[in-house]
Amino acid sequence: MADIGMDLNRFILEEERKYPNASGSLSIALMSVETAAKMITSHTRMAGLADILGKADKINIQGEEVQKLDEFANKVLIKVLSDSGQFYAIASEEEEEPIYPEKGKYGKYIIAFDPLDGSTNIEVNVSIGTIFAVYRRITGTINDFLQKGEDLIAAGYIIYGSSTMFIYTTGTGLNGFTLDPSAGLFLLSHNDMKMPQEGKIYSVNESNAAGWDEKTKRYFETLKTKGYTARFIGTMVADVHRTLLKGGIFAYPADHKSKRGKLRLLYEVLPMSLLMKQAGGLATDGTQDILTVKPSELHERSPIFMGSQKEIELLLNNGQ
Ligand code: AHG
Ligand code: MN
Ligand code: MN
Repeated sequence: MADIGMDLNRFILEEERKYPNASGSLSIALMSVETAAKMITSHTRMAGLADILGKADKINIQGEEVQKLDEFANKVLIKVLSDSGQFYAIASEEEEEPIYPEKGKYGKYIIAFDPLDGSTNIEVNVSIGTIFAVYRRITGTINDFLQKGEDLIAAGYIIYGSSTMFIYTTGTGLNGFTLDPSAGLFLLSHNDMKMPQEGKIYSVNESNAAGWDEKTKRYFETLKTKGYTARFIGTMVADVHRTLLKGGIFAYPADHKSKRGKLRLLYEVLPMSLLMKQAGGLATDGTQDILTVKPSELHERSPIFMGSQKEIELLLNNGQ
């Protein structure tokens, strides 16, 4: 097991050495995500100072056009990941269609991301994040994005919270790195993360409860009678991060308004579900293991329930 304090770059390279035939391509790909994360974090820390919170059409005192943080994050990720030459195609929550970077025409991978998760929390100084999902390029068409979650090559998130953390998996366990801002390095702080098998917290936007199906309503009522407490940040990254560390359940069920829930399969639900499973948790859309679901379009939504084994099993057993 890697030593606490190891720099993320070195960790990525040491992981690569476990596979003698590895070309190094995935390592470069992951390091480009790391670079973009550092650039986004430094901008995040300036929010409120650099007029970043302004509307996108505003001009700041330097006469430059002010970008909203989510536009900034999207542009940085597209630029840095394109320049890495490792990605044949890039899909973003903020882009209708995939981007095929010129430099990535021989790239072995494709990537989907949510550049800035929790946008409504930017203005109120509450944790925000970035989520990414890496798949292998197979056909070189949009279908490459429609692979099952179980086929993910790598997935992770960056949380811009009281500290910035980079949490990711390549399918052999989950590791978390905390940014030392003075050195500009992500250092291993959470080694081979395993989540508690049960928790005491449920995390769901309960204002939607009137629109849930009966089973979902009953389930959350049962948790209350069992003494659970509620936490909902409204940034999926932060709510999932807490669930990974403390256990319990995070959910965004379908409701009368949002028949397929709100969260997007490709760059929210599937990568975060893989991380949960890597930490020993479970993730379901209510009927099936979410990682076995094959997406049918880029911006598809899905209901999601993810968390500790005990809470998800209780849901699947109808609250019994
Ligand atoms: P985004 O900022 O990328 O659009 O994602 C916001 C998502 C997710 O982070 C969060 O769990 C959910 O929206 C909260 O939605 P509600 O405001 O409907 O609760
Ligand atoms: Mn999001
Ligand atoms: Mn977003």
